[in-house]
Formats: sequence, structure tokens, C-alpha cells
Amino acid sequence: MTSSAFLRPATTDDAAAIADVCGRAARQAYAPLVSPDYLERVLGHFYGVERLRRETTPTSTWSGFTVAQEDRRVVGVAGSGRSSGHEATWELFVLYVAPDAQRRGIGRQLLEHVVADAQRASALCLQAAVMPGNLQAMRFYESCGFAAAGTRPIYAPHGEQGGPPEALIYERMLAI
Ligand SMILES: CC(C)(COP(=O)(O)OP(=O)(O)OC[C@H]1O[C@@H](n2cnc3c(N)ncnc32)[C@H](O)[C@@H]1OP(=O)(O)O)[C@@H](O)C(=O)NCCC(=O)NCCS
Repeated sequence: MTSSAFLRPATTDDAAAIADVCGRAARQAYAPLVSPDYLERVLGHFYGVERLRRETTPTSTWSGFTVAQEDRRVVGVAGSGRSSGHEATWELFVLYVAPDAQRRGIGRQLLEHVVADAQRASALCLQAAVMPGNLQAMRFYESCGFAAAGTRPIYAPHGEQGGPPEALIYERMLAI
């Protein structure tokens, strides 16, 4: 199905809605894959309202958030930026679509928006880290032109216990 969601840059007023979308989508995707405690630590570390409010502001290496909106409701969010230490690589750090809005093309629409940002920044490739076992994300990235490109240690400032040691890397080359 083709999405008719409206994409726009997030403002600080969107922080609670972003936390809600990320929380619901992450619980749906990760609950079967990690311990309940790990999941709550991830949500607490990355998706608390105060942090999200700060991160609505773009920097030289961070895009800020783009939200997808339907009927004035935030139903999806993406955030990306330049990969640290890899000038030519752009990284998709955040991509969540609310469970009740999935499979309507909103994820793809947000992803193509990120691709355009990466191309404007002259990046040569776009990468996303996927938790092992997250089949819906793996199928999604494959359908959007990404290919598996190895693994790397998972970024876990919230602590590694109860979660996987490595993330799967998916990569899409970008035409300039
Ligand atoms: C991954 C995610 C962002 C996809 O968003 P979405 O809006 O549902 O994706 P789209 O509707 O744009 O799907 C595009 C294509 O991806 C594939 N796809 C998406 N979800 C899929 C699923 N659950 N199973 C199989 N294929 C899937 C399909 O080919 C789909 O095209 P189709 O519906 O025409 O068959 C969403 O499932 C999500 O938020 N998941 C939880 C969080 C997450 O894992 N984020 C990624 C972090 S790495």
C-alpha cells in the first residue's frame, strides 16, 4: 500500500509522541528477542521524553528527527546522521512505525527521506544496525535495497546483560 503520511521535521512538542511510537514499536519488535529488563533499559536510555526533546535539534552530524504524521497523529519517526569515524557513511539511527500503522509504506517513505538527506550530505552508503532475530526489519531493509554487510558489537550504553552482543549491519550504496 502507498503511504499518504505527511513528513516534517520534529519539534520539541513532538517528544512525547515520538517516545510513544518508539516505545510501542520497540516493545513489539524486541520483546521476543531480549530480556524484559534489557528492553526497559533501552527505552529508558534512548527514548525518554527529555532526551528526545533535546535530540529534536539537528547538529552537524545528526539530522534531528523526521516524523510521519497522519490526521495530526505522529505514526512514525526517523533519525540519522554521519557515522562517527566514517566520513562517507550515513547511519540510520532511529526508525520506528507505530504497530497499528505498519505495512502501509510509512517506513519506506521515511527511509527514502533519509536517503535524500544522506545524498545531500555526499554520503556514499547508508547503514542500519538490526538486532539479530528482528525479521520484520531484515525483510524491510532487503525490500528497500539494502544487503547484509556483516556484524558489529552492539552499542549498549544501557548495559549488555539480557541482550545480544552483536548487531547485524545492513547497507545500501547511494548513487550521487
Ligand atoms: C521496520 C519498520 C520500520 C517497517 O515499517 P513499515 O511502515 O511497516 O514498512 P513498509 O510498510 O514501508 O514496508 C515496506 C516493505 O518492507 C517489507 N516489510 C515490512 N514489514 C515487514 C514484515 N513484518 N514482514 C515481511 N516484510 C516486511 C515488505 O516488503 C514491505 O512492502 P509490502 O508491504 O508492499 O510487502 C517497522 O516494522 C517497525 O517500526 N519495526 C519495529 C522497529 C524496528 O525494528 N525498526 C528498525 C530498527 S533497525
